[in-house]
Amino acid sequence: MKDKLFTWVDNIFRKVDRSHLRRTKNLRLIPDFKNRRGGKLAYGEWAHVIGIFQTIIYQTLVKKTGNQILDIGCGTGLLGIALEPFVYDGGNYTGIDVMIEDINFCRQNFKMDNYHFIHLDVANPTYASDQSKQLKPWPIADDSHDLLTALSVWTHLSEKDASFYMKEVHRVLKKDGKAIITFFCLDEDYEQSLSKRSDAPGRFHNTNQNDWIFKVSAYGSKNWFTVPSASIPENAIGVTRKGIDELLKSSGLKISQYYPGNWKENPGVFFQDIFVLEKA
Ligand SMILES: C[S@@+](CC[C@H](N)C(=O)[O-])C[C@H]1O[C@@H](n2cnc3c(N)ncnc32)[C@H](O)[C@@H]1O
Repeated sequence: MKDKLFTWVDNIFRKVDRSHLRRTKNLRLIPDFKNRRGGKLAYGEWAHVIGIFQTIIYQTLVKKTGNQILDIGCGTGLLGIALEPFVYDGGNYTGIDVMIEDINFCRQNFKMDNYHFIHLDVANPTYASDQSKQLKPWPIADDSHDLLTALSVWTHLSEKDASFYMKEVHRVLKKDGKAIITFFCLDEDYEQSLSKRSDAPGRFHNTNQNDWIFKVSAYGSKNWFTVPSASIPENAIGVTRKGIDELLKSSGLKISQYYPGNWKENPGVFFQDIFVLEKA
């Protein structure tokens, strides 16, 4: 009933709101409620997260337009909206996802000639469990992209998948390319936050603080963990700082910028931890 009412109000609100957009034209692309995924449902939350990433992407890119951008785990296109200004003037956006429904939705919603979507037939136990169990490289040329983004994707990958696809990040980036990838990074701040946790909602989020305690090893890994409530590890994956350092080293990448997330109960720009990476 609550969702039915929300869907009804949201459909009317979005139409009226669109006709009032003055300074942020790309927000016209925010989809309806049933197509807003990625752990963010409210219209306002999508607009907020789009703004956060648009700012970080601006700070990250040297050349502001004409970029070749690859968005891994594009979902229904949240980052596709944030990225629109940066592919003006001859650039291209390519979204890749294992979920065919989301790729089909994006093909309908993003009609621009320089937007392309690719379905990757690879299994992810949470999102596409019945697809190929074999990991496949992305159908993308070596050294071809200025920027790669992955919002809330490595937070759903096992150690094996995470390692395979981080090497793909290195392969597809140009020499001076950058990658913006989010993690739940289990570091000192995380350890310190544990003693302050309670059953209450977080200071910065509306979910129970205890939902974000990664204490179950994912498939026996020493560095990849999941939360006790997860029925399968890929529902929510956190990686120790040591695990992230080893992952980057073995993929030939290094950290160029770090924005801690507020899921650890300290102020941060976004919920998850954001890593900006470059070739080592
Ligand atoms: C939490 S959602 C985030 C979606 C989108 N980035 C957003 O923030 O709205 C995670 C996405 O990653 C996709 N995904 C999971 N494993 C993948 C893989 N190996 N390759 C590409 N996409 C994957 C899922 O299908 C899902 O769309």
